[in-house]
Amino acid sequence: MKIIGTGSAVPSKSVSNEMLTGFLNTSDEWISTRTGIRTRRILTNEKLEDLAVDATRAALESAKISPDEVDFFICSNVSNNYVTPSLSAIVQEAVGSHAPCIDLNGACAGFIYSLDFADAYLQTDRAKNILILCAEEPTRFCDWHQRETSVLFGDGAGAVVVTKGDGLQSLHLTASPDKDVIYYKRRLENTPYEHRGVDVDEPLVMQGREVFRMAVESSQKDLDIVMTKAGVTSEQVDYFLLHQANMRIIKAIREQIKQPEEKFPTNIERYGNTSSASIPILLDELSREGKLKQDAILALSAFGAGFVTGAAVMKWNTINYD
Ligand code: COA
Repeated sequence: MKIIGTGSAVPSKSVSNEMLTGFLNTSDEWISTRTGIRTRRILTNEKLEDLAVDATRAALESAKISPDEVDFFICSNVSNNYVTPSLSAIVQEAVGSHAPCIDLNGACAGFIYSLDFADAYLQTDRAKNILILCAEEPTRFCDWHQRETSVLFGDGAGAVVVTKGDGLQSLHLTASPDKDVIYYKRRLENTPYEHRGVDVDEPLVMQGREVFRMAVESSQKDLDIVMTKAGVTSEQVDYFLLHQANMRIIKAIREQIKQPEEKFPTNIERYGNTSSASIPILLDELSREGKLKQDAILALSAFGAGFVTGAAVMKWNTINYD
């Protein structure tokens, strides 16, 4: 599998840490030193579908294929307005594609999980071009009265088009079930057969310190596994593209891998944690800036609610955006 197109989109509204102090007992100093986040983008007058469509169109355009040439469409998403139809079905209608489509909830590791699904389809000749879209609005599942969670997230969408090729060198997924460490619950209707009383939504609940610990530990292990499988050393990796959850998590992983800071590009300072969209947005930015040279070795690693994790090593093929 190789990536032949990338795209991304973020909401127009940028919200600084300072702006949050108007209604939350927090400070720019606390947020930036504990997380590295300075601003985040938040959906206001746009919808998640708009971002998703923009990112998808940009990815198709750079891959130089039409919507009709997409054979399979995977959308990584945790939550959006519609429970059904899937977000992939909604975006597909908007971009004019007719491929089989499915949403995948791999939380913040959704991009790596999607790459694995796509690879299986390509390897079994069930598709030629696959679109992977990660579209997320985590700001809509936080309780904005809770400073512990709401300051961490931002909305965004990132997409890639993949086809057969020699890019993917190795991939590894894990799940170590622990639903209580980070979860978000939706209210369901009562039935005549089961009354749960007043069932309520539970906005994001997170044990921050435990998630931090699990993130650092799993990412380091996963990266070790995929680098070994791919036969590359950390010195040979040009860029480590890590899930953008917290700058201190990225720093802790970097210190264990013992590689220079320049190899760990970030966008968390501008966008916060955009869940599964964070790696594809970063990939799109770096690729469009011309920072990813032909045959550059990339190591990807992400983790999220579940607790699920995924990592991959890819050899980059440059994309022409003209
Ligand atoms: N502003 C100001 N103070 C805050 C705050 C905020 N936004 N959020 C929490 N605090 C306070 C706490 O109430 C606590 O106060 P206390 O000492 O008086 O009890 C203090 O800051 C320390 O809280 P703690 O939770 O121990 O901070 P921390 O150093 O662990 O940082 C996180 C908290 C959430 C930033 C950090 O644990 C983290 O990033 N975890 C991973 C989260 C994550 O990545 N989730 C998504 C995974 S995909």
